[in-house]
Amino acid sequence: MRTLFEPVALGALTAPNRVIMAPMTRGRATRDHIPTAIMAGYYAQRASAGLIISEAIGISRQGLGWPYAPGLWSDEQVEAWTPVTRAVHDRGGRIVAQLWHMGRMAHSALTGEQPVSSSATTTPGDAHTYDGRKPYEVARPLAAEELLDIAGDYVSAARNAIAAGFDGVQIHPANGQLIDQFLRNNSNLRSDDYGGSIKNRLRLLKLVTRAVASAIGAGRTSVRLSPNGETYGVDDSDPTPLFTAAADLLNTIGIAFLELKEASPAGTFVSTEVPRQSPMMRKYFKGPLVLNSDYDLARAQADLDSGLADAISFGRPFLANPDLVRRLQDRAPLNPAEESTLYSQGAEGYTDYPTLPDIRAVA
Ligand SMILES: Cc1cc2nc3c(=O)[nH]c(=O)nc-3n(C[C@H](O)[C@H](O)[C@H](O)COP(=O)(O)O)c2cc1C
Repeated sequence: MRTLFEPVALGALTAPNRVIMAPMTRGRATRDHIPTAIMAGYYAQRASAGLIISEAIGISRQGLGWPYAPGLWSDEQVEAWTPVTRAVHDRGGRIVAQLWHMGRMAHSALTGEQPVSSSATTTPGDAHTYDGRKPYEVARPLAAEELLDIAGDYVSAARNAIAAGFDGVQIHPANGQLIDQFLRNNSNLRSDDYGGSIKNRLRLLKLVTRAVASAIGAGRTSVRLSPNGETYGVDDSDPTPLFTAAADLLNTIGIAFLELKEASPAGTFVSTEVPRQSPMMRKYFKGPLVLNSDYDLARAQADLDSGLADAISFGRPFLANPDLVRRLQDRAPLNPAEESTLYSQGAEGYTDYPTLPDIRAVA
């Protein structure tokens, strides 16, 4: 029987345990999207994770519409990421960079241009900007030639990630972001080679994943999908054929691992009645499968035992418990995550969550 605390090969990487840190945007970079020193401390505190998947990192100014989120398109950003990855490695950890283009979720107040997407659609609700919340804007449909440039931006961000010392990257076609806007049929209304059939809607995912894998190696390239339920207005009327085809495609490319963020009816992050797709996708994706959302120790071990998952990624539990691996191992209680400081700047609710020894020292 495999336990959460045994090693697992994830492509070119070996994780010493199967407790992965899920990607989480924390808004601690500068206004110009440059990583800051405090981020090195935050990630280093969590270096006992089998693998850290970083917060989403913008591949281009066009694709980054989140205040104080970091990017990876300039030399200055590469230089500023280097101490972050070094701090994780110095503590014995591993970290991959989640690469992000938000598509229609970006806002001109941050990017200086109309957001882009598969089609002229609008994300429901309001975007976060430096001047508070503003309604999302209608997107400009991308021309087919521009998609080659976007794949090029993914490749340069992936090369920059390796130059900055990351151990690999995770492409982010989940959660209603740009590639997800091409995958699912309520946001992709195109009639060219990138729209309509499942094969066509998968084309951008294929283009980007192949390009990144050939630039930095498939063994250092992973992908995250959120196959069940709506996120930021992006949804598909028939997810199983789409996401089993995506699993098959990614299996053929031979990526390092596939991570699935799956909602459930009682989900505390996102809830949905649409069934989990992992049991069906597992039949097509033969590489390591990492599952996420609302896991605790018992559920995590059950999904390893059944063979559904090879590892589990934890979001909020890792955010609030830098020593999560140890706590799960000791069956110790967990600190709850504080909502008000999720995206605030500074150390509060970021690097000041106590570890078990901290708590015992003051008890
Ligand atoms: C503060 C916060 C920021 C997040 N940012 C990202 C992100 O940048 N990229 C991403 O793919 N998911 C992001 N997520 C989703 C998490 O990776 C994860 O899917 C979610 O928290 C559910 O897992 P959990 O129940 O273990 O927390 C974020 C979640 C939170 C709470």
